[in-house]
Parts: sequence; structure tokens; C-alpha cells
Amino acid sequence: MQTTSAASPVTPSTTSFSPVGVIWLKLAVIYLIIGVGMGIMMGASEDFTMRPVHAHVNLLGWATMALAGLIYSVFPSAGSSKLARVHFWLANVSLPVMAVSLGFVVSGSRSVVPVLAISEILAAAGIIAFAANIFLNLKGR
Ligand code: HEM
Repeated sequence: MQTTSAASPVTPSTTSFSPVGVIWLKLAVIYLIIGVGMGIMMGASEDFTMRPVHAHVNLLGWATMALAGLIYSVFPSAGSSKLARVHFWLANVSLPVMAVSLGFVVSGSRSVVPVLAISEILAAAGIIAFAANIFLNLKGR
């Protein structure tokens, strides 16, 4: 039987990637489960009111966070920076508040609009921190 060494150039080594993106990837998968669960519920009930919540949980929660996790794993200098911590907390505090308040607003509770607006500003600030981090701390090896 043929065996391959862990140090073989054709075998990806688990030590090639920094663990700084792991928490991002695990949270992204949790958002994916929630987003997909909402999609299945909408399809089953034929009530698509929560469509924007589903889209934002999947796109900001799953797609954007998974991409950040992968980028931060490949570029640990960016992943372990202060801007990455700012990005992490802004993204993960804003999205749950935004998802719940958006759910209320699309269901007709207009009084929640200020909470939604604040969460959206925080989410946008997180994206700005991410962009600044990429421009300032992404270094080729
Ligand atoms: C099993 C997985 C999923 C199911 C069952 C599902 C289900 C749905 C349903 C029922 C709608 C509403 C369609 C309509 O109104 O005609 C929808 C819309 C949408 N979904 Fe999903 N979805 C899934 C995964 C995803 C993922 C992974 C993403 C993004 C990464 C995504 C992004 C969107 C977007 C952007 C919309 C349009 C929202 C809008 O028009 O306001 N979905 N999905």
C-alpha cells in the first residue's frame, strides 16, 4: 500500500494555515445552518416575508464571514491584527441584532427601525474595518 508523508509537497499540511480563521469559519457555518433553515421554512410554509433576513444571514453571516475566515487563515498577519478583532466584534454583534430587528420590521413593527439602523451602521463599520485591515495588513509571504 502506498503511503504519503505529512511533509510531502503534494500533501497539503494542516500546519500550512494559521488557526486565526477557525472561529470565523465555525461561526459562518452556524449562520449557514440558520440561513438555510430559514430558507427551508419559507419554502415549506410558502410565506416569504423573511426573505431579506434569510438573504442577509446567508450572505453576511455565511459567505462574508467564511471568506474573512479563509483570508485570515491564509494571511495571519491580517487575521491577528487589532483591526481583525474590531471587525470580528462589529460583525458578530451587529448581524444577530440586524437579523432579528429586520425580521420585526418586515413583519410590520416600524418602531424597531432605529435598532435596525444602528445595527446596519455597525455592520457597515465592520466591513470598513475589514477593508482597512486588508489594505494595511495583507502581506505577501
Ligand atoms: C437549502 C438552502 C436554501 C433554501 C431552501 C433557500 C430558500 C430560499 C427561498 C424560498 C427564497 C425566496 C424565493 C422567492 O421569494 O421567490 C430565497 C431567496 C434568497 N436566497 Fe435562499 N435558500 C437557501 C440557501 C441560500 C444561500 C446559501 C444563499 C446565499 C449565500 C441564499 C440567498 C438568497 C437570496 C439572496 C435570496 C433573495 C432574497 C430577496 O429576494 O429578498 N439562499 N431562498
